[in-house]
Amino acid sequence: EKDLEDQLPLRGKKILVTAGPTYEAIDPVRFIGNHSSGKMGYDIAKAAADAGAEVILVSGPTHLDIQHEHIQIRRVQSAQEMYDACHDCFDQVDTAVSAAAVADYRPKNVASQKIKKNDAAFSIELEKTKDILASLGEVKKNQFLIGFALETENEIEHARQKIQKKNLDLIVLNSLNDTGAGFGKPTNKVTFIDKDFLVEPMELKTKEEVAQDIVNKIIAHYA
Ligand code: CTP
Ligand code: CA
Repeated sequence: EKDLEDQLPLRGKKILVTAGPTYEAIDPVRFIGNHSSGKMGYDIAKAAADAGAEVILVSGPTHLDIQHEHIQIRRVQSAQEMYDACHDCFDQVDTAVSAAAVADYRPKNVASQKIKKNDAAFSIELEKTKDILASLGEVKKNQFLIGFALETENEIEHARQKIQKKNLDLIVLNSLNDTGAGFGKPTNKVTFIDKDFLVEPMELKTKEEVAQDIVNKIIAHYA
């Protein structure tokens, strides 16, 4: 029994992970999106499932797929669909990790037909999407809530503000400044900041290794 606990330290835990971009429709054939590959979230889902957790992976549009006995994928497109999928299961999970690159804005009106070009300039009015992570922070009870932060200046201070604003237990700060880290790259340089504002800079690592570090934080939380 002790051995099994060592091998599967997250056995009995249910974990929600969000991954990938969201697509916000402009018209039936166009959208606003971003370059997130989803890899970070998928790697976290795998590491958590390998540690024995039951994982619900809420995934925006990505080419990635994952077959794992303990991972249930729920595919969504828009921030609103991701919001709904997360709130559907949040009260059943022990931990939630928000690795998705959710669009901050969406077109205020979605055209029902393909927009035709003409000679005039064209602009799209945008409205804010819901902040999914902050909304989970508002309703959280015992859940261990982990967010990400992507910053290009005053990184630590901005990340701390996100911890407070979104009621997080841990934030994973992504540094774009360091060479080899960031969007589309296989490596990440992250800094962990916990709710007591303890700052822990990590080495440049592969996304698989960063995913394992994050899962180790979850394991430590329940140890
Ligand atoms: N996030 C979310 N829903 C949104 C926007 C962000 O759940 N509508 C989550 C992301 O998944 C991430 C965290 O919030 O875990 C921080 O995302 P980030 O883009 O760094 O911060 P924002 O709060 O969106 O602020 P800004 O982009 O202005 O820095
Ligand atoms: Ca954002």
